[in-house]
Amino acid sequence: MVTDSYRSHYTFAMDFGTSDFKFGPITCGDAPRVVNNRGYFPDKKSVMYKAFETAPDVIVGEEVPLYLQSNEDLSSRLIYPMRNGVIEKADETAWRVVGALSEYGLSTFTPEPNNGFQGYNVVASLSSVSPRYMYEQLLDTFKQANATGSVRAVTVIPQPFAVAIGHGVTTCVVIESGHGNSQVCPISKYPIRTSQVALNRGGGDANAITSEILKDAGYADLANEEALVRKVKESIGLVPADLDTAILEAKKSPRKFRARHKVPGTRIEIDLEKDSWTRFLIGEYVFNPNHEIFESYFGRGMPRPKDVKMGDTVFRGMLDFGDAIIASVERCPVELQPLLYREILLSGGNFSWTVPEPLEAVAVDAPTKIKLLLRDKGIKNVSVKMTKSPQFSVWHGCIIYGFAVPDEYEWDWQRLEGWMKFSG
Ligand SMILES: Nc1ncnc2c1ncn2[C@@H]1O[C@H](COP(=O)(O)OP(=O)(O)OP(=O)(O)O)[C@@H](O)[C@H]1O
Ligand SMILES: [Mg+2]
Repeated sequence: MVTDSYRSHYTFAMDFGTSDFKFGPITCGDAPRVVNNRGYFPDKKSVMYKAFETAPDVIVGEEVPLYLQSNEDLSSRLIYPMRNGVIEKADETAWRVVGALSEYGLSTFTPEPNNGFQGYNVVASLSSVSPRYMYEQLLDTFKQANATGSVRAVTVIPQPFAVAIGHGVTTCVVIESGHGNSQVCPISKYPIRTSQVALNRGGGDANAITSEILKDAGYADLANEEALVRKVKESIGLVPADLDTAILEAKKSPRKFRARHKVPGTRIEIDLEKDSWTRFLIGEYVFNPNHEIFESYFGRGMPRPKDVKMGDTVFRGMLDFGDAIIASVERCPVELQPLLYREILLSGGNFSWTVPEPLEAVAVDAPTKIKLLLRDKGIKNVSVKMTKSPQFSVWHGCIIYGFAVPDEYEWDWQRLEGWMKFSG
């Protein structure tokens, strides 16, 4: 048994996102550490490694960029383990990355010795569509990580559930939209698994259209630099209340809508000038990629978000967020449906769109856009809220959960909840 005081120091949360791994103990406060969810497998046969044999088999965390060499085959050496939040059971390489990241996370926060530390109580979160074997593999990974005594107990929860817990609501619909995909998950005390809708669309797709926009605006040389494109998207992308109106307005007064992005530490400045109307395409595409204007981009080679099947789940490519919420809610009991619409929670970085003050009449934030999409389909009595820090709300919810679950509640394979204990 451990005391509240122990838990208030040694509860540790890990959120395995498709692009980012967020981790840290309760003492991090509001913001966890973030590193890319990826691992690099160095070529140990090369002279450099033979001569200076210090590199581990897989490198994760902040050091990865130091190892990236342009002459190596990155696609086979730099591994992003999660596709739509899922890892194949037999994909050993991917599981090794997850193991290395878990150890990296824990060792980043090794407490001072001799202060009664018996290991962290770790709450790890996975996508809500994760099959059962992912729970098994992840728990196994922690068993191994505990070789260093850093884990006392571990539990795993689905990401949308963590969001609801962090927000203190038990009847709601959570939409978690990250980089790779989006999950719509109704919750009534527990996640209603059979009513979930998964989308094969996230911030990465907004990057794809931003890249096309940069090409059209004369910045073709920058359009393939993923990290730069992402920054440009975050700084210039706008969500229109209505796309046609926004385009019309922006074309009428391009100066008012002008978007500029200066790349820090370089002489590069991206200036959309007369193409400032294209800012609205970025935001619209996230919420609804079905406007005819996007067809010309698909026609020129931008990949259309596809339906993909992973295990039993179909991730829908082109479904707009309004239809996705309705499809999900309508799979729930009729009596519950109005209550669910009254508490829609948005989380994930892909909802972090801001609205510059002078453009308030045409640009909107994510909750407003969702309300508009639902209103168009006849659903009016809704409340849509954004979580406090959308990129970290899963991590934050995991911390709250870890603090609240009683220590004596042992891991239950039927319910997939409770603590799997390694010591103490
Ligand atoms: N201010 C912003 N405006 C628009 N998009 C943003 C903003 N801030 C972050 N994003 C986008 O949010 C995405 C990352 O979100 P998040 O960290 O929730 O994803 P993830 O957890 O790694 O992935 P997933 O949840 O799909 O597994 C990126 O595509 C990023 O560009
Ligand atoms: Mg995420």
